[in-house]
Amino acid sequence: MVAKTTIYRIERERIERAPIEDAASVIRAGGLVAFPTETVYGLGADAFNPTAVSKIFEAKGRPADNPLIIHVAEPEDLYNLGRGLDWRGEALVKRFWPGPLTLVVERSPDLPNITVAGLETAAIRMPRHAVALELIKASETPIAAPSANISGRPSPTTADHVIRDLVDKVDIVLDAGPTDIGVESTVLDLTTDPPLILRPGGVTLEELREAIGVVAIHPLARGEAKAIVEVARSPGMKYRHYSPRARVVVVVGEQEEIRLAVQRVVSYLRRVARVGVVGSGGHRYEADALRDLGPRDDPRRAARLLFKALRELDDEGVDMIVAEGWPEDGVGLAIMNRLRKAAGGLVIQARSVLEEGVDVKSLLQSEIMGT
Ligand code: TXA
Ligand code: MG
Repeated sequence: MVAKTTIYRIERERIERAPIEDAASVIRAGGLVAFPTETVYGLGADAFNPTAVSKIFEAKGRPADNPLIIHVAEPEDLYNLGRGLDWRGEALVKRFWPGPLTLVVERSPDLPNITVAGLETAAIRMPRHAVALELIKASETPIAAPSANISGRPSPTTADHVIRDLVDKVDIVLDAGPTDIGVESTVLDLTTDPPLILRPGGVTLEELREAIGVVAIHPLARGEAKAIVEVARSPGMKYRHYSPRARVVVVVGEQEEIRLAVQRVVSYLRRVARVGVVGSGGHRYEADALRDLGPRDDPRRAARLLFKALRELDDEGVDMIVAEGWPEDGVGLAIMNRLRKAAGGLVIQARSVLEEGVDVKSLLQSEIMGT
């Protein structure tokens, strides 16, 4: 347990050496540093120091069977930490690194077991954020880092989110303002043929296919399977995630239907609860609180605002959040993956809400009231 957290404000365009050196010396000494990446803030420790890595699990309350992403500052480190890469690894690194793509590869035996949760594979990425890269370089070691939130909460897209979850559990927070992408990196398993998306994220399925041809997507990552598969490939897939305190319902379907259905669900729920909405396109809802993710044709912006919206609705003290669904192409796939997880699978079809004679209560009851 850390006594007191030091917070450094850093300007991305003019990075001062002193905070970076201080943070790097904390990493080398086995401490914890929260730092910005282009996706979300990470909670970092020396990937080669098992005691330091154990502090990450403790601070987040993270299950020990959920491995960490190892952050590197040079593409070559993929080959130092990983094994058995073919042309696809090279093509992906060339096109997407630094950037929001995590590659799962056979691990080097030098990596401590705790970092990879005892797996034969390791997840590696080179972030596209100058502060992250400077920190890794100055630390002279790869940095293992999950998102810097309490396990199960929405990932932090600002230093303030980190501080609220982890103050006095982390030695240093490097605050470089809000992150660009807002959802986490895409996790791509390169140990299978074809490669398999375990978590959709900042690099899209379409972009990956353009770069290397056939790419599969895990049914759980797309939300096709509601049940937990027996052997989840990515241990993180089986946990409820990204969840605000409020219970979340996602409404999917055609855009106009979604809006009508969301309002109907909200009106029903407001009889018994305070209800917030995650909407879009400036559409007004009658609700207790509203966050708007911006125009429907700009899912990148929506991704950037999503986790913040969920946290803010929690701050407003709503009991339930009803979220509009998004089309699952481009980064929309990542948005829907996070929303489904936040909702713990409580996803309803707009059309069935709007069907004549349907009462919202019976539609929601089994799932909400029963759980
Ligand atoms: O954008 C990101 O990826 C952020 C920033 C901080 O880099 N990090 C992040 O880490 O989201 P985390 O720990 O919240 O999510 C890592 C995901 C988990 O779902 C984990 O199960 C999966 O990657 N993972 C890690 N190692 C793996 C492995 N060897 N095989 C399969 N999945 C793995
Ligand atoms: Mg996370």
